[in-house]
Amino acid sequence: MENRVIIGGQWGDEGKGKIVDTLSRDVDWVIRYQGGANAGHTIHIEDQKHVLHLVPSGILHDGVQCFLGGGMVIDPWSLRDEILALEQKGIDVRERLQLSATSQLVMPFHKRLDELRESRLKRKCIGTTGRGIGPAYLDKMQRTGMRMGDLMLPRENLERKAIEKILSANEVLSQFYEADPLPAKVLAEEIVVLSQFLKPMIVNPYDALRAVRDGVASALFEGAQGTLLDIDHGTYPYVTSSNCTIGGALTGTGLPPRSLGEIVGVFKAYCTRVGNGPFMSELLGEAGDQLREAGGEYGATTGRARRCGWFDLIAGRYAADINGMTGMIITKLDVLDKLPRVKVATAYEMDGETLDTYPVLSEQLPRCKPLFTEFEGWEKSTEGCRRLTDLPANARKYLEFLEERMGTLIVGISVGRDREAMVWTETGVSG
Ligand code: IMP
Repeated sequence: MENRVIIGGQWGDEGKGKIVDTLSRDVDWVIRYQGGANAGHTIHIEDQKHVLHLVPSGILHDGVQCFLGGGMVIDPWSLRDEILALEQKGIDVRERLQLSATSQLVMPFHKRLDELRESRLKRKCIGTTGRGIGPAYLDKMQRTGMRMGDLMLPRENLERKAIEKILSANEVLSQFYEADPLPAKVLAEEIVVLSQFLKPMIVNPYDALRAVRDGVASALFEGAQGTLLDIDHGTYPYVTSSNCTIGGALTGTGLPPRSLGEIVGVFKAYCTRVGNGPFMSELLGEAGDQLREAGGEYGATTGRARRCGWFDLIAGRYAADINGMTGMIITKLDVLDKLPRVKVATAYEMDGETLDTYPVLSEQLPRCKPLFTEFEGWEKSTEGCRRLTDLPANARKYLEFLEERMGTLIVGISVGRDREAMVWTETGVSG
């Protein structure tokens, strides 16, 4: 079976968790490669709801090995709690989860700095998840971070290193932010305890992923967030601090390009965004509220109400192009079931000019007014559909339009929250 990378095509929350869960049934490895506990993947299995932030969704399938790659920033407290919560539900995690020694640790001061920086920015804040992601990547890039592999150090060395880092962060907290310092000794002792719990799972990624590199074991790469939140290619500065696009799957694992296989983009049938920043096809007012309620659009990580809007073809095509998507999956089609009309942004108008390609700069994006193409709704439930021919004619017209204009085959359509609620299409929707 060919390997696959699952990438968010919009601003995250496209429903990647369900897709990864569905596609990971038959793979040897499910690998996360960027981000941290800012992600929130919700998966419904029978009457159980699982919300995962760090552990890959593949953990819900017996026998699948899961890997947290070096491109991630991992809060060891959150990771331990997530592992224990899954184990309480009877899922064996510790035997099947490996942690790259080169991943970075998110420390309590990263979260504190994230909050303080955001509150200082006031109205100009990014609207982060408050999980310490930006400050942790900052430490990585300025080469002052602690890595997962540090948890293997002898106790005294680990304690000393942690105290040093916390004391240096305390200087910034007290001198720059006039905030209370964190208790260095207490936290360093907690880290020593956590190291005992996590140590058996920490591995050298070069050795651990050898079988994937050699093509002997199959892998599914689970992207977090989405293309428009990518630090380089997203709506900067309103982005996260990692590469959510395809390059992250390479740098975040140390695997070569030939290991990636198919690149599958996941897009909602409409569009949402949490946090601040440009959202070109946003629906304000009642129409946006209706979509939010119909789609249950509240964040899995922070519970925040998501901003809602129509599918944006300009941004979608950009995402397909820069990731080299070989196929795409459209999720939450059923959320549009009751609408009499459905729209798609097909061009932007900027300073009196019509654009049909994505303009990239954040200064330009807020000046872009979407030009919409309207479709008649299907006003029928799609939830029970399992084959393309089960879908109402207007829903198919809508999907055919997306496929044609995106220039990327639709390989799957999700029509409900359960695992089975999928229409798979080998040759796309236009046949
Ligand atoms: P951070 O990743 O917590 O620094 O947040 C930066 C931006 O990315 C904010 O707008 C967040 O709302 C957004 N963000 C981060 N993770 C996710 C996610 O998993 N889904 C959707 N938005 C996210």
